[in-house]
Amino acid sequence: MSDNAAVKILICQGTGGISAGAKQVEAEFTRLIAEKGIVAQVGKRCDVVKTGCRGLCANDVLVDIITPELGRVTYDFVVPADVEAILDQHIVANEVIEKKKAKEYYNTFVDQQMRVVMTGCGQIDPERLDAYIEEDGFKAIEKCVKEMKPAEVIDEVKKSGLRGRGGGGFPTGMKWSFCAASPGNHKYLICNADEGDPGAFMDRSILEGDPYCVIEGMMIAAYAIGCDAGYVYVRAEYPLAIDRLQKALDTCYEKGYLGKNIQGWGFDFDMRIKKGAGAFVCGEETALMASIEGERGMPRPRPPFPAVKGLWGFPTNINNVETFANVRHIINKGFEWYASLGTDTTKGTKIFAVTGKVKHTGLVEVPAGMSVRDVIYKVCGGIANNRKFKAVQAGGPSGGCIPAEVLDTPVDYDSLIKAGAMMGSGGLVVMDETTCMVDVARFFLTFTKMESCGKCVPCRIGLKAMLDILEKITEGRGEMADIDTLLEMGATIKKASLCGLGQTAPNPILSTVKYFRNEYEAHIIDKRCPSNSCKELLLWQVIPEKCVKCGACLRACPSNAIKWEKGQVAELVKENCTKCKSCYDACRFMAIE
Ligand SMILES: Cc1cc2nc3c(=O)[nH]c(=O)nc-3n(C[C@H](O)[C@H](O)[C@H](O)COP(=O)(O)O)c2cc1C
Ligand code: SF4
Ligand code: SF4
Ligand code: SF4
Repeated sequence: MSDNAAVKILICQGTGGISAGAKQVEAEFTRLIAEKGIVAQVGKRCDVVKTGCRGLCANDVLVDIITPELGRVTYDFVVPADVEAILDQHIVANEVIEKKKAKEYYNTFVDQQMRVVMTGCGQIDPERLDAYIEEDGFKAIEKCVKEMKPAEVIDEVKKSGLRGRGGGGFPTGMKWSFCAASPGNHKYLICNADEGDPGAFMDRSILEGDPYCVIEGMMIAAYAIGCDAGYVYVRAEYPLAIDRLQKALDTCYEKGYLGKNIQGWGFDFDMRIKKGAGAFVCGEETALMASIEGERGMPRPRPPFPAVKGLWGFPTNINNVETFANVRHIINKGFEWYASLGTDTTKGTKIFAVTGKVKHTGLVEVPAGMSVRDVIYKVCGGIANNRKFKAVQAGGPSGGCIPAEVLDTPVDYDSLIKAGAMMGSGGLVVMDETTCMVDVARFFLTFTKMESCGKCVPCRIGLKAMLDILEKITEGRGEMADIDTLLEMGATIKKASLCGLGQTAPNPILSTVKYFRNEYEAHIIDKRCPSNSCKELLLWQVIPEKCVKCGACLRACPSNAIKWEKGQVAELVKENCTKCKSCYDACRFMAIE
């Protein structure tokens, strides 16, 4: 972006952008710039650049126009038909198209964040090595190899306070030192890009938007630890991430950034991709290694830890995508800078995938320590449809639910655990007053039960038994003793399971019982779902005094179960109703209960 004499047209082409039509928008810019002679008209180069994701995928296709005259202006929801006006009015006539410009909330969404890991995403072409090099790419590994001993690199990472972003929050420098201390000349390095948490897409976006930064982070780790070979384990459902990473690896080999004697620095490192089949448990490090070895992806008991005996029995270090993407910034800017960001126990920034009942869903990168409230209200605009906040589920399917009382919890590893949730990989699912917390617990347990590999009894049998109880409660067949049984079983499964899946799967139940016990009791004692969510307990009706006669429920009903005519109060035909809840969700006046 250093070329002030050129016009830059940055088009978001992450998976979200492409599915919204970004390739067609790019083709239209390229076609019309040539056909209309735009370069001659403005007397400057016009670079059309495809970039990775900026985080607000709901507003794709996002296009940034950067000109010396107007600076940077973002247009959202761009379609090919908008392109000619952008060229004529914005680029040639230097006039911003106000009605097409992204609304103020887009700037708020961007300005409230602190982009460190995602600096390149949305800025550079992820398929061009020279674009990465222009942004100081491979400076950090060069500095390490030329100016630092491996132990000094580990020390720098230790002092930065970086902790693993894959969920556990283990100190990265310390992990590297364990593997470095293991004897042997052949060691493996693995990047965990399995990203199995439903709703999380930060690792995919980093790989799609800035694959070279992950490669460089791995090169630095390999140099520090003494690894000569590396794998990136990516789920096969991420075809664009795999394609861009593969292109980046091929280019690195071609240009001497991977392989033997990299850039003549006397350092060797080889890397390749291993595609995973998308099982959640394969994100667990020992299951992941079994999967690379061609075995069934099942966790193995530890010890021995991977640092001692990992892939094919060799010492192995495994880190998450976001962890590796942090490393070059620590080396380039120094551990003091990195350690100055965040809280006492969690340094740097964290990327969150914010989904659910929030106004602006997306990927946000904020300094560790920002409150959950600020992430939801300041960055993401608050709760959608003017409804009331109820809870936020933090930490993926094994995380916990945080209620309004503890919304000021800072987003750091220790505070989230204290609040009954966890950082996990950074999923935040926001729920409003229409969400039933018992149903939420059932939803997440259904996921973890399905993804259990079945190797150990507490997880295989225990999660199924807990799910049966939750189903009983949500169907109105629960008894008060079920709550205690859930708590007891949850505690036992956490203690007795072999791997992190079983050890954390009961969390959504334990935290919802802790904070929302009254909802469990309403289902059991009153046979009522206070959030009107559990289908079996519902008997929908229109409240005539609240109905404003708008007809939205009629349009939402798939079963011909609403009678409505212009100027009339809606009526619900019980015999036709399948209790799908669409009318309730569609009614903005809470006139359906
Ligand atoms: C069931 C389960 C799934 C996991 N999935 C992932 C994942 O998708 N990505 C990831 O980086 N770590 C995942 N982890 C954590 C890894 O086992 C490992 O701790 C992590 O990759 C280490 O990297 P870090 O130190 O950089 O966090 C998972 C753990 C469990 C128990
Ligand atoms: S805890 Fe669950 S997922 Fe982990 S090894 Fe046991 S059965 Fe498999
Ligand atoms: S959507 Fe609500 S307010 Fe509108 S007609 Fe239906 S019940 Fe009445
Ligand atoms: S719950 Fe579903 S089927 Fe029943 S009236 Fe509402 S929209 Fe129609």
